[in-house]
Amino acid sequence: MDSRLEHILDAARWAPSGDNTQPWRFEIVDAGHLIVHGFDTREHCVYDLDGHASQLAIGCLLETLAIAASEHGLRAEFARRPHAPEHQPTLEVTLTPDVGIVADPLIPCIRERRVQRRAMSTQPIGAVAKETLARSLSPDFQVVWKETTRERWALARLMFANAYVRLTTPEAYRVHRDVIEWNSRFSETRIPDQAVGADRLTLKLMRWAMHSWERVDFLNRYLMGTLMPRLQMDLLPGLACGAHFAIVAAKPPANVDDYLAAGRQVQRFWLTATRLDLEVQPEMTPLIFSRYVREGRGFSRLSRPGEIAASLADRLAGEFAPIDPARLVFLGRIGAGPQATARSTRLPVERLLRSD
Ligand SMILES: Cc1cc2nc3c(=O)[nH]c(=O)nc-3n(C[C@H](O)[C@H](O)[C@H](O)COP(=O)(O)O)c2cc1C
Repeated sequence: MDSRLEHILDAARWAPSGDNTQPWRFEIVDAGHLIVHGFDTREHCVYDLDGHASQLAIGCLLETLAIAASEHGLRAEFARRPHAPEHQPTLEVTLTPDVGIVADPLIPCIRERRVQRRAMSTQPIGAVAKETLARSLSPDFQVVWKETTRERWALARLMFANAYVRLTTPEAYRVHRDVIEWNSRFSETRIPDQAVGADRLTLKLMRWAMHSWERVDFLNRYLMGTLMPRLQMDLLPGLACGAHFAIVAAKPPANVDDYLAAGRQVQRFWLTATRLDLEVQPEMTPLIFSRYVREGRGFSRLSRPGEIAASLADRLAGEFAPIDPARLVFLGRIGAGPQATARSTRLPVERLLRSD
């Protein structure tokens, strides 16, 4: 493989993806041309509604690839194959030498960037950092901050209630069971348990419970099984941050290209946060459940989770009013503080290569 291309792909693979699914494979045509074969996980992941979470991740990958290419004075251009199936977004990537391309200052942040799911500092983000983050977005996107104590408390409570939905939905249980790698600090294809933000005892209980839905259900019903995980992974972190933020598109994304474009913005924002020494955790599931509710689509064989999700969708809309909730493409928390020491890693480039 061309060494520049190898270097670029080696960096690009550090793009984030929901549950570290890395929904991309690469096919190299020649030194200036490759194909990104995307895929989504909608068939088995309740959170990948219509493949949108995967499409956002693929957008993050494209932005990372373009940033990595700039180190070599290459301009990356992307053309989506219009006839590829929607669940397999496929992109032709051309890399062209361009004297106008300067190395992007975000290059060193590509590997540094990671999720922090534990407490962050409550120190405010500060006007300069907020302005820098706002300017990292293209004019079609804006960032909305929720940073007063009242706002952080409202979002923390929303996340706490939202986690009740996640933890009492059998369809979500299956996803959680499959994505956590137990007794690990690093995981190539999943999320290591030490990165999820719970203490050792709670992790032990979660591991025991996740053996079967019956165990989860029993704990939830009789022993308030959702309480400790929700306190540790949602309520406290929801308060312990500088702010919550939403990345808002000028109009609701309507197709694969819109989600890819939004993903590129998300990654620029996140890498800029890394450059500013700020930690980020996405909080995507309330947006996803709220879309199920808006579109009148069920996500569980049980009725209770859908009922709670409906009231949470109203609360979310109220919190961001008058913005149309369909325009919210990304929700997260951000703040200063130490980086996570446990994190997802990635598949090596060789395993991401396809030869057809
Ligand atoms: C579209 C998208 C949605 C995500 N949703 C969540 C989320 O709701 N909660 C969370 O803690 N992390 C979320 N993540 C973060 C991923 O789990 C994380 O990026 C992945 O495991 C790789 O880890 P790293 O970012 O630390 O390298 C999301 C990432 C993306 C790109």
